[in-house]
Amino acid sequence: MDTEGLLSQRMHRLKSSAIRELLKHSKMENIISLAGGIPSDALFDFEGLNEATQLAITQQPKNAFQYGLTEGSEKLREGIVTLCAERGVIARADEIIVTAGSQQALDLVMRAVVDPGDVFVVERPTYLAALQTLQLAEANIMSVASDSDGMVVDELEELLKTQKIKGVYLVPTFGNPSGLTLSRARREQLVKLAHQHHFLIVEDDPYGELRFTDERNPTLSQLGKEAYGDAANIVYTSTFSKILAPGMRLGWLVLPQWLLHKVAIIKQAADLHSNSLSQTVAEYYLGLNRLPTQIAKIRAAYKAKCETLAGLMTQELGDYISFDMPKGGMFLWARFRSQVNTSVWLEQAIKQGVVFVPGEYFFSDNPDCSTLRLSFATATEEQMHEAVARLRRAL
Ligand SMILES: Cc1ncc(COP(=O)(O)O)c(C=O)c1O
Repeated sequence: MDTEGLLSQRMHRLKSSAIRELLKHSKMENIISLAGGIPSDALFDFEGLNEATQLAITQQPKNAFQYGLTEGSEKLREGIVTLCAERGVIARADEIIVTAGSQQALDLVMRAVVDPGDVFVVERPTYLAALQTLQLAEANIMSVASDSDGMVVDELEELLKTQKIKGVYLVPTFGNPSGLTLSRARREQLVKLAHQHHFLIVEDDPYGELRFTDERNPTLSQLGKEAYGDAANIVYTSTFSKILAPGMRLGWLVLPQWLLHKVAIIKQAADLHSNSLSQTVAEYYLGLNRLPTQIAKIRAAYKAKCETLAGLMTQELGDYISFDMPKGGMFLWARFRSQVNTSVWLEQAIKQGVVFVPGEYFFSDNPDCSTLRLSFATATEEQMHEAVARLRRAL
């Protein structure tokens, strides 16, 4: 079949997700996966979800099965206002759009603000599927390094001396893949730079609630609003995926007024509105007031799992591999002390029956091939022991 010229140029430039390819291995028998970024379904609150679903179907069948507002159900947005307030994000319901997960939120925003060739800056390493949305929007993606305190904002400041930028995308709290958190000082520096140089910050915050300590940094969104009010050009996105259930495909955006209506127009073109049934279930779930207990449960479980994996890695592979201890989230980001290429090592690991994600996939440029991402969310303690023993054998 002659398909020459039928695909857009844009599609030729788009890379498929290496992680999705890798996940095929994780489904193979006897393979233990530390690769996927998926939450543990052993922790899902099925009882609460069941109750909320029953209520949605019996009490609000019309809302649950009818078309809805593009911006999302009013009641759910009210619930999200409260969730936001608890994490220091100041938002009114009319600043919120409910999306099909944060993934759609990123796609909509990038489409609304990026013209082909516009410079968008990401962290090195960064969330892979955000890179895909930037590639689809034909952004000129540039990157700055990160260290134990998150994105090196000084490097961004240097870049700004020679480069006009449209925006910065980052996961400032318990990042994917790095597990790192941007320090308070750097948060303030970044928000100030965005105001001075008139660029947009896209703050992606799926993991902020999954913290293992009581330490809590203000969101960029909060710092921006406190310092500059409505003039702060910060987009905040978060999701129900990591605190409730990813299959509901529910996330949200908090947007500056000038952007909100534009994003709503793109959402109309994409899917008219987010799934009504999921939204109604989420409304009832929030009404049941089970979310705080649920989040506390996930936090405690991931903290224990993180400590187990980190302990095993130090014990078995500490001579070869180093990492910063995550203070929340789902990922442990590690680096070989010597020049081991983790993509090559992965082939050995698969032969031994364990998978992880080689770090190089999370870089838009200058990949550090000696890095790797391990997820501690889904494997059981027993599986972790076996997985790390297999990793050691693979070495
Ligand atoms: C940093 C980051 N952003 C966004 C997403 C998308 O999540 P969802 O679309 O399920 O809300 C993920 C999912 O893993 C993520 O890690």
